[in-house]
Amino acid sequence: MAEELKNKLSANISLAAEFLQKGELVAIPTETVYGLAANGLNDDAVLRVFKAKERPLFNPLILHTHSVEEALRLFKAPNETISILSRTFWPGPLTIVAPKADIVPDLVTAGSPMVAVRIPRHPLTLDLLRAITFPLAAPSANLFGSISPTTPIHVKEQLGERISMVLDGGPCEVGLESTIVMVEGCELTLLRKGGITPEEIKRVSGIEPVTRILSENPEAPGMLKSHYAPSKPLFLGELDELLMSHPLHEAGLLLFGPGDSYPDAADTRQLSSTGNLHEAARNLFRYLRELDKGPAKVILAQKVPESGIGMAINDRLWRASH
Ligand code: TXA
Ligand code: MG
Repeated sequence: MAEELKNKLSANISLAAEFLQKGELVAIPTETVYGLAANGLNDDAVLRVFKAKERPLFNPLILHTHSVEEALRLFKAPNETISILSRTFWPGPLTIVAPKADIVPDLVTAGSPMVAVRIPRHPLTLDLLRAITFPLAAPSANLFGSISPTTPIHVKEQLGERISMVLDGGPCEVGLESTIVMVEGCELTLLRKGGITPEEIKRVSGIEPVTRILSENPEAPGMLKSHYAPSKPLFLGELDELLMSHPLHEAGLLLFGPGDSYPDAADTRQLSSTGNLHEAARNLFRYLRELDKGPAKVILAQKVPESGIGMAINDRLWRASH
């Protein structure tokens, strides 16, 4: 049985590699969220990504590779800071933005002289990356502006008809998009919060990252405030306060950990029954989708503790509330 499964997985990887070689689109599993992948060195393939996602061309894409050596080749003269960060956190949920090498197409970086690169930590996608000879440009595999997918079903719901294949790697382990850090000489700028915290980055690099996560941030145009938005209005805050202005029977509650229960709410999801922030991150996007589809008229989301990956969860909830 184990052998059978192994054969099936490697057949899927070969098929995915074939599609990608032909310039077609394949959704790939990563530890953060599913990506919509194409040959990152082929302009036509990259254009298909923008088209399938309905994403504006001014919003650049992350390149994914399987080894630090391959990744560093995509940067122009990577410095010591880039080297330390990549060796410590890759494969893993950190994206590094730095001056690009000439081989990186302008379409991928949306004309910027900087490129975003990461090595994802999912065994199937690492095998796939080893089977091909080019990096994969991959934004999250959702339509522009909507919630990132953390299961193959989420991908199929939004993009099923538009892509050649979804490489099924099960539900994502982290559940939130990668932390993005920009390296300019010896300065670090945090462009997106994620699974790797600014404290960890500082500990490893010795440099305190400046946080610049503005909605109108020209460095990460994808961080528009209206991102990660469910179609229903979402309000974020302390639950007692939110319930003063919204009737419970119309509310879909997104609760964090153990605490009061609300049997009269229209709908309820609890991010983690034990109050574990990593479990909460893993469940966040799935529960937002479910509340969006369910009977509630509005979504009331409880803020989670502002520590570790909790900061990234609150960031996504804040964006979803605009
Ligand atoms: O976890 C992740 O990062 C996932 C998985 C699939 O790797 N990918 C992802 O991609 O979230 P995307 O495109 O949905 O978000 C990437 C963000 C966008 O906000 C984009 O503007 C920013 O990264 N970005 C990409 N290239 C950049 C660059 N050259 N300079 C600054 N920001 C960049
Ligand atoms: Mg995205």
